[in-house]
Amino acid sequence: MILGRRRRSAEPDLPTLDQARPAGEFVASVLSHLRDVVDVGWNLLEVDAEAHRLIRKAGATSCYIDYHPVFGASPFGYVICTSVNEGVLHGRPHDRVLADGDLLSLDFAVEVEGWVADSCLSIAVGAPRPADLQLIRDTEQVMWAGIDQVRAGNTVGDIGHAVMHEAQGLGYSINDRFGGHGVGRTMHEAPFVPNHGAPGSGARLVAGQLITVEPFLIPTTSELMVDERDGWTQLSVDGARGAHAEHTLQVTDGDPIVLTARTDDPSPRSSLT
Ligand code: MF3
Ligand code: CO
Repeated sequence: MILGRRRRSAEPDLPTLDQARPAGEFVASVLSHLRDVVDVGWNLLEVDAEAHRLIRKAGATSCYIDYHPVFGASPFGYVICTSVNEGVLHGRPHDRVLADGDLLSLDFAVEVEGWVADSCLSIAVGAPRPADLQLIRDTEQVMWAGIDQVRAGNTVGDIGHAVMHEAQGLGYSINDRFGGHGVGRTMHEAPFVPNHGAPGSGARLVAGQLITVEPFLIPTTSELMVDERDGWTQLSVDGARGAHAEHTLQVTDGDPIVLTARTDDPSPRSSLT
């Protein structure tokens, strides 16, 4: 989400773990499925149609299709963000066939039984470029560094600082406009969870709260610009490829619950659930 555009809720309305789990498990299962099936030759509109079919089958509700924030030119109109290569965030599905070696980020949020989960996964389509696999690994490593700071009593600045520190250690710079966010009954709630910041600064986390951590990295720049062709897709300013990773977490007094953890994820950190 973008800084300053979040929706604030006056009263904290916190789910129990049992209430929060179904949305997270559904989002994780759809991203795992798409990772398995999407391949060279798929059209981005087919990726969206497949995600939409699974939403209908599950009786879930898309958070994206009617989403029309101030930074979007029109309602989003699709159920998943498909960001390809220099498309980094908010990639709007369009008539484009995936080619060998494309770098694809899939960002997906739905409501199930009254609660939202939001997660993003980046994949290489067909024969991967080694540099893209490294970029995906680095982005996930940076995300997990942020997730390590998610616990009751810590602040969003602790998360942002950890994300920034890990990213800079790997040679990346950080964009300060976009970041993670609270999740609840709706997709974007307070607090904003920056990908930068000072330890101890900002809102304090409480047990039961749902938040996302979602860094995105581009090797050569941190700057984005909107694709004027669709008014939505955020492109790297220099045309370099970007990767994005996101999980929805429930805060506890100890390690967070990774609600959108994929059980078949090769990442060892998926065991944190
Ligand atoms: N998951 C994205 C985020 O948190 C939401 C993208 S909004 C959409 O920023 F409208 F592009 F779908
Ligand atoms: Co998000």
